[in-house]
Amino acid sequence: MILQFRLWILNCTFFFLSCLFRALTSVVALGANIICNKIPGLAPRQRALCQSRPDAIIVIGEGAQLGINECQYQFRYSRWNCSALGERTVFGQELRVGSREAAFTYAITAAGVAHAVTAACSQGNLSQCGCDRDKQGYHDQEEGWKWGGCSADVKYGVEFSRRFVDAREIKKNARRLMNLHNNEAGRKILEERMKLECKCHGVSGSCTTKTCWITLPKFREIGYLLKGRYSEAVQVEPVRASRLRQPSFLRLKLARGYQKPTDTDLVYLERSPNYCEEDKATGSTGTQGRLCNGTSTSADGCNVMCCGRGFNTHQYTKVWQCNCKFHWCCFVKCNTCSERSEVFTCK
Ligand SMILES: *[C@@H]1O[C@H](CO)[C@@H](O)[C@H](O)[C@H]1NC(C)=O
Ligand SMILES: *[C@@H]1O[C@H](CO)[C@@H](O)[C@H](O)[C@H]1NC(C)=O
Ligand SMILES: *[C@@H]1O[C@H](CO)[C@@H](O)[C@H](O)[C@H]1NC(C)=O
Repeated sequence: MILQFRLWILNCTFFFLSCLFRALTSVVALGANIICNKIPGLAPRQRALCQSRPDAIIVIGEGAQLGINECQYQFRYSRWNCSALGERTVFGQELRVGSREAAFTYAITAAGVAHAVTAACSQGNLSQCGCDRDKQGYHDQEEGWKWGGCSADVKYGVEFSRRFVDAREIKKNARRLMNLHNNEAGRKILEERMKLECKCHGVSGSCTTKTCWITLPKFREIGYLLKGRYSEAVQVEPVRASRLRQPSFLRLKLARGYQKPTDTDLVYLERSPNYCEEDKATGSTGTQGRLCNGTSTSADGCNVMCCGRGFNTHQYTKVWQCNCKFHWCCFVKCNTCSERSEVFTCK
């Protein structure tokens, strides 16, 4: 058992936490202490939370995975495809440069954790939370609708994400301020997109009474919103409060005076590398071997994606069943169709 566990840890390099706990659900014999001590890269407060709430840790892992899957989806046609080289953390590989890409990964991870925890609460999967208890009884006597069903308790999910995700920021530097700001922006955007759903009751849908509840948005929606925020991310710089040497807040770099970013801005400290070549120093994996589009002139086109290095062409034949006809009775006859096709990958 222990040997298997070790081997498995070696294989599990990406998104450590979720990957670890997916396997651990079958290794229930290990206590929370052992499990939490085995996870590398947890900050002290994260380890403590892990020990007191092992059930929540599984959900946190799923939330982090939700975030990274969305990140990979949103950036599937870009040079940077959401992967990084370098330090491995419980949230996967982390970008060293305080770039707008790093900003996106922090925001989407924090939102993912808040989303997963909130969903788990609603489904009764976590012991200390459930449906939002403030949303019970009548909401509005005159309009005549009342709270019903299970309203998602997003405040709980957000607070949990804050306690766990933010606890990894232990260095007192500008990057910490950047990361915390982006975490908060991700969670805020999630909170703003919570939806009110209602259902009518009464004879043939006459709506004599109506019940409403709050639901989580689809995480894809949060992905698109954060991608938009990423495109409009703002560069900031740290401001040190007089005698203290630690940076105490961030201000917009290209603004006069002390203008602060808004709550839902994604913020970055450093300009992005071009992500063309593999570079351990910046965390860039490079674009060699990436699929590209031979005719597109935007980011997924071979010219842009391959940074002018050129591309390889791979030809293949697609085969499928076609022109299927139903014959009485009872069989289906099809032809075989085929098409020559090609894909391109960067040199
Ligand atoms: C809740 O638990 C059930 C059963 O273990 C699982 O299928 C479901 O995905 C969980 N839901 C969430 C949101 O974690
Ligand atoms: C991202 O690109 C790198 C470098 O080409 C590749 O190794 C990796 O598998 C890609 N990741 C995803 C999720 O597509
Ligand atoms: C390549 O890009 C063109 C133009 O943007 C688009 O019409 C086409 O569907 C793309 N092909 C693939 C395989 O994605």
